[in-house]
Amino acid sequence: MNYGYFDDALNEYVITRPDTPNPWINYLGDSGGHSGIISNTAGGTSYFQDPMHFRLLRQRLHSLPVDRPGRYIYLRDTATGEYWSPSWQPVMKALDTYECRHGLGYTSIRGTYSGIETETLYFVPPGKNYELWRCRVRNAGSAPRSLRLFSYAEFSHYKAMLDLQMSWALMCGETSCRDGVTMFRPFVEVQTDRSAFFGTTAPLDGFDCSQAAFIGAYRSESNPIAVENGACSNTGASAESSVGAHCIAVDLEPGETREIVFVLGTARNRAEAAEIIAGASKPEVIEADFLALRDKWTSYRSSFQVKTPDEDVNRTLNVWNPYQAKVTFDWSRFISYYERGLDRGIGFRDTMQDNLGVLHTVAAESKEKIKLLLRIQFQAGNCKAMIFPLTGKSEGGGRSDDQMWTIYAVAAYLRETGDYSFLDEIVPYVDGGEGTVLDHIERGIAFSQKTTGEHGIPLFLHCDWNDSLAPVNINGKVESAFVFFQLGLALKEIALIYDRIGQSAKAIKARTDYEAMRPDAEALWEGNWFARGYDSNGRLFGTSKNTYCRMFLNPQSWAVLSGLATPAQAKRAMESVRENLDTIYGLQLLCSPSPVFDPANEGYLPMPAGSRENGGIFFHSNPWAIIAETLLGRNEEAFESYRKILPCRRNEIADVTGVEPYVFCQNMLGPDHPRFGCGYNTWLSGTASWMFVAGTQYLLGIRPDFDGLIIDPCIPREWDGFEAIRVFRGATYKIKIHNRSGEAHRVSSLLVDGREVPGSKAPLPASPGQEISIEAFI
Ligand code: GLC
Repeated sequence: MNYGYFDDALNEYVITRPDTPNPWINYLGDSGGHSGIISNTAGGTSYFQDPMHFRLLRQRLHSLPVDRPGRYIYLRDTATGEYWSPSWQPVMKALDTYECRHGLGYTSIRGTYSGIETETLYFVPPGKNYELWRCRVRNAGSAPRSLRLFSYAEFSHYKAMLDLQMSWALMCGETSCRDGVTMFRPFVEVQTDRSAFFGTTAPLDGFDCSQAAFIGAYRSESNPIAVENGACSNTGASAESSVGAHCIAVDLEPGETREIVFVLGTARNRAEAAEIIAGASKPEVIEADFLALRDKWTSYRSSFQVKTPDEDVNRTLNVWNPYQAKVTFDWSRFISYYERGLDRGIGFRDTMQDNLGVLHTVAAESKEKIKLLLRIQFQAGNCKAMIFPLTGKSEGGGRSDDQMWTIYAVAAYLRETGDYSFLDEIVPYVDGGEGTVLDHIERGIAFSQKTTGEHGIPLFLHCDWNDSLAPVNINGKVESAFVFFQLGLALKEIALIYDRIGQSAKAIKARTDYEAMRPDAEALWEGNWFARGYDSNGRLFGTSKNTYCRMFLNPQSWAVLSGLATPAQAKRAMESVRENLDTIYGLQLLCSPSPVFDPANEGYLPMPAGSRENGGIFFHSNPWAIIAETLLGRNEEAFESYRKILPCRRNEIADVTGVEPYVFCQNMLGPDHPRFGCGYNTWLSGTASWMFVAGTQYLLGIRPDFDGLIIDPCIPREWDGFEAIRVFRGATYKIKIHNRSGEAHRVSSLLVDGREVPGSKAPLPASPGQEISIEAFI
């Protein structure tokens, strides 16, 4: 069963009924300024740059009904006293028509009730520090109507945690409304001179700043007393919960439309807020701002566009995957409807990986993000776990994999841009001193090379990529095959970088170190697959000898990615993946999950069997396996695994998965769980960047390299070919792939501007702005 469809012409997902299994959300704005999340029934929250330290709108966690409060509009018919929400929530009166359109950076929600059509468009104009709610109310009936429209925005203490934890935080704020502008400012513990405002230029019939006055005791957003009575009581709010509620008379002749605009943002004072609101609300400004928003995303997407015979692939790679990758790059794992913007900031390893999904189009932004993250690396080479963008503070650490992700992001940046001077840029260490970017990378690699256990494999430390596997490390002796293979790939990559910058002695050393890893890799082979590492007793774990957690996915894919698996092992390992971990919804992270949490007896994962890291389908790991399949030339297997997990392909089973069909989710319950197929944690996941890399660089095979653009498709046999546009080093490569052999793997002839070139790499452009035509025959 579905809850909507893709409008591909407009790049929108259209939700046709409001009662989706979970709130289906979208993001407004970006991490540079004012931004927020909005659900399909107008729920959500807003914040300025940092949802933890500069929250503007409150979100009630675990509220019932779910997803309260939000950016609400109420309408009340003066003649009958009937009232409703055109976004369905919070009144939840059945609407005659309902439609929510989530687009790139905007959401519009349309609802009709008793002949009144209302459409509210929500967006943050590019480069502006406010959000707009443009509400259009139309009388579709044949008689004049007299209505009252109410707005509702509920302020949060800027420190979101304080707001949730203690009532005294509420006692420290004051809110007032004058001339349509409601201003809110908490008195204490804020490090900004900016106040939140919410206002309109529409003439008011009344307002409330006191939540208690607007909602009334023992009521909720569903039945506010002010809406029920048809009037606000012009309250300010002092030492209490405060809202921006405005009441506006809307009298409509048949066919007449009235436009009312609300603006939410921050300003230094009321005069500035009033000026922002007046400027932002002009219809021509809104039109221009909305066009600018659409242009921004068109330009963002234009660096890579593709036309394949598969519409699901096109929709994913042209629109929704790059969009999700950018949102994930902006917000790391900070705020979604799963991550609540209360503890995690910009994660070191998370966002090092997020870079991979956006580098092709915002390389300069990506470079700054890499530098921001490198600031939380220690001189010893390891890293703290996260940094908070507004305060610059950092937290966490002690994991074995963090530092390992830098090299992949930097290598990708260098391949994309050729900007080797980046390696010489100076970045401080979190514990003092500073070093070049290259120095940071080298120290990270050296840390993993030094911090090894009894078998010469990197120690697991607090955890590796799999943070839920932490309890495996009972006595600190556990060693991680994942980090071992990561290290292998890191050494290969750094050797290539040394080649480029003429440091040949270091390149030789890195390659020697890499070759020296082979016997240790061999020792991790259990016969049919690679083990996950050595357990606290020094025995291999993740093998057929184990009762639980017999086989893990990541050591298989990373053994292939690193090149440390022999060809026979690589093939066998990936076959074992298909035999043991494949499901109709994607690849499980491990098989034979333990039903109980009992680390002493291999029950390491603190979650029910079949969920998350304990045998769930953990999508972040799927693209690594897909890439591994392409590296082995197993194109049918690669494509099957890729296509299977595309979000749009679960549109018709949205009642089973429960989650948005336009974005990847982090995980889904696996076959060992009774609710197999149920998805969790949408939007912010490493799945977004890696699926983009797997799709564009490995399946379609359009892969930037230091000295050219690799054309190495690994497509399904039945495709005749495909066309793509890739902007690379300032040039536009127009690519046509012809699948003549039906083998659909590896290019046999490559024409660049009509001239045959050897191999499968198109040269770098002679000058930026060039258009280069590529024709490749398989
Ligand atoms: C979550 C975390 C990520 C971790 C992964 C596996 O996605 O955000 O940092 O690597 O889980 O445990």
